[in-house]
Amino acid sequence: MHVTVNEIKEMKSKKEKIVMLTAYDYSTAKLVDESGMPLILVGDSLGMVLLGYESTIPVTMDEMIHHTKAVVRGTKRALVIGDMPFMTYHTTTSDALRNAARFIQEGGAQAVKLEGGITVADTVKRIVECGIPVMGHIGLTPQSVHQFGGHRVQGKTPEAAERLLKDARALEQAGVFAVVLELVPAPLSKLITNKLSIPTIGIGAGPDCDGQVQVIHDLLGLFADFAPKHAKQYAKLAGLIKNALADYITEVKSGKFPTAEHSSTMEESLLQELVRA
Ligand code: KIV
Repeated sequence: MHVTVNEIKEMKSKKEKIVMLTAYDYSTAKLVDESGMPLILVGDSLGMVLLGYESTIPVTMDEMIHHTKAVVRGTKRALVIGDMPFMTYHTTTSDALRNAARFIQEGGAQAVKLEGGITVADTVKRIVECGIPVMGHIGLTPQSVHQFGGHRVQGKTPEAAERLLKDARALEQAGVFAVVLELVPAPLSKLITNKLSIPTIGIGAGPDCDGQVQVIHDLLGLFADFAPKHAKQYAKLAGLIKNALADYITEVKSGKFPTAEHSSTMEESLLQELVRA
């Protein structure tokens, strides 16, 4: 039985911190799920950390569905959330509904996430009315990076802070079960968290959110291109991988690998027959 959105909402009232992490493939999802993580996000961040795009903007629905299916196959307990890519929920409500439904029907996810506040609230409401749980995402919304002019902390002026609070309230009204606050000043996240009845999940938004989310490549030190300020490396896997690869090359070249242990044998008589043939 998967974790449910109601259980996630109850965690706020019980003051139990909610932990969420991204995963993009079967074997990683299996590890994340077995760790007891209640929420797995198949984030469109996969565009950057897996596919090598410069931003999340080029990511397509088909790419997201492909990775969502793999994550779902590796997950027994966590609630899996599919991240709706750029422009898949802005054109028309029916496009948004069709694309949200693909995550659930084809991908096997239990919920979707989309970026934006007041401007997407009506769309969120329709998706929720159709029985698909939605997670909101405000603050720095990476799909609008060109409008923001970079990955900057949001809500720093009184007007911008008020707008964020209004966005959060509009999403709550529209029926989201939780909302991600990305790159929001810690005191503002605390205020929004206290004003909402639904959980806030922070990334670069301070310690007072109801939960935290991270990109797994940042957390494990796998993405060598860029280390965001908001991320903490709990392992340095890029270094371990580089050392392992160097050892592999050295051992193949020197003949140390493979050994008899990694090989199989056959009947000597069969071999002799072949030699004589
Ligand atoms: O795509 C993603 O990984 C995200 C998280 C950073 C919240 O949206």
